[in-house]
Amino acid sequence: MEWIEATLVERKFFTDTLFSIKVDAPLSPYLAGQYAQLGMMIDGELVKRAYSFVNPPHPHCHEFYLVEVAGGILSPQLAHVSLGSSLWIGERASGFFTLDEIPSYEHLLMLSTGTAVGPFLAMLQTEQTWQKFDRVTLVQGVRYNQDLNYREVIDAIGQNHQNFQYIPVVSREAPEQGLAGRITQLIETEQLAQYAGFELDASHCQVMVCGNPDMVRESRDLLRARGFERNLRRKPGQLTVENYW
Ligand SMILES: Cc1cc2nc3c(=O)[nH]c(=O)nc-3n(C[C@H](O)[C@H](O)[C@H](O)COP(=O)(O)OP(=O)(O)OC[C@H]3O[C@@H](n4cnc5c(N)ncnc54)[C@H](O)[C@@H]3O)c2cc1C
Ligand SMILES: NC(=O)c1ccc[n+]([C@@H]2O[C@H](COP(=O)([O-])OP(=O)(O)OC[C@H]3O[C@@H](n4cnc5c(N)ncnc54)[C@H](OP(=O)(O)O)[C@@H]3O)[C@@H](O)[C@H]2O)c1
Repeated sequence: MEWIEATLVERKFFTDTLFSIKVDAPLSPYLAGQYAQLGMMIDGELVKRAYSFVNPPHPHCHEFYLVEVAGGILSPQLAHVSLGSSLWIGERASGFFTLDEIPSYEHLLMLSTGTAVGPFLAMLQTEQTWQKFDRVTLVQGVRYNQDLNYREVIDAIGQNHQNFQYIPVVSREAPEQGLAGRITQLIETEQLAQYAGFELDASHCQVMVCGNPDMVRESRDLLRARGFERNLRRKPGQLTVENYW
């Protein structure tokens, strides 16, 4: 991996722990849904972690949505390092959690927890999404209402695309909008499908799942039991997943 210097040009805090950063660096072309490796020298060692692009592909301005993990090594540094500082970034993005890997279908259902809404926001801001699917639903599971951010971006996507639906899911207080509970419970009880007005059926729906690995595993198991199969290049299915840790 070739590492190059990036400049931290912007940071915005949405809550005490959730924030976005923008970095400037000349990267090779990448795809919506991919991630970069960001790194900082900490105690004489390059500490690096993966972060998904929130922005649609851009040659030098890159945005990431992060949570400051309590007791984490890199994310607290990224939350507090001064603007204008240099970071390290992998010059080539990675990852197969992209629309190139997914067949055209009637409905694309995007399931995310926490900051894993990021890669979906990148995809939703590319034309490819709207060329490949007749209908797109973004579901974001969070603990508290205040953890639902990027509302202007999401509203703009909705204004530009009548066939887009956004469903927040809030687990630890009453939702101001959307549904209460966990995404997995709402799949199991059919509440998600009923609320959104779709059939969660492998003949109509491609599902992409990203975020908390327990949510990813449990969602995958529920969907497999309904006939969804993993998308492979040699054998297309209807299910594509990415774990954040
Ligand atoms: C493909 C990929 C893409 C990723 N994209 C993002 C991203 O866009 N934004 C982002 O915030 N993180 C993202 N991550 C997670 C990120 O790489 C780091 O793991 C995270 O920032 C914690 O690093 P740390 O050094 O602070 O904590 P560490 O000391 O490495 O602690 C790791 C622990 O932090 C917790 N954790 C890690 N990531 C998250 C998270 N996103 N939300 C909640 N808890 C978490 C887990 O309990 C994990 O065991 C991604 C991971 C992968 C594999
Ligand atoms: N201070 C704060 O208010 C605050 C806010 C956000 C994050 N954080 C910090 O950030 C870290 C991660 O928090 P996060 O909220 O981004 O991520 P998270 O713990 O992954 O929670 C995000 C959402 O995923 C749900 N979830 C967890 N496990 C699941 C499973 N097996 N199946 C289905 N859904 C599941 C959670 O529901 P449950 O609520 O039922 O677990 C929550 O609704 C934590 O270390 C925390 O300290 C703090």
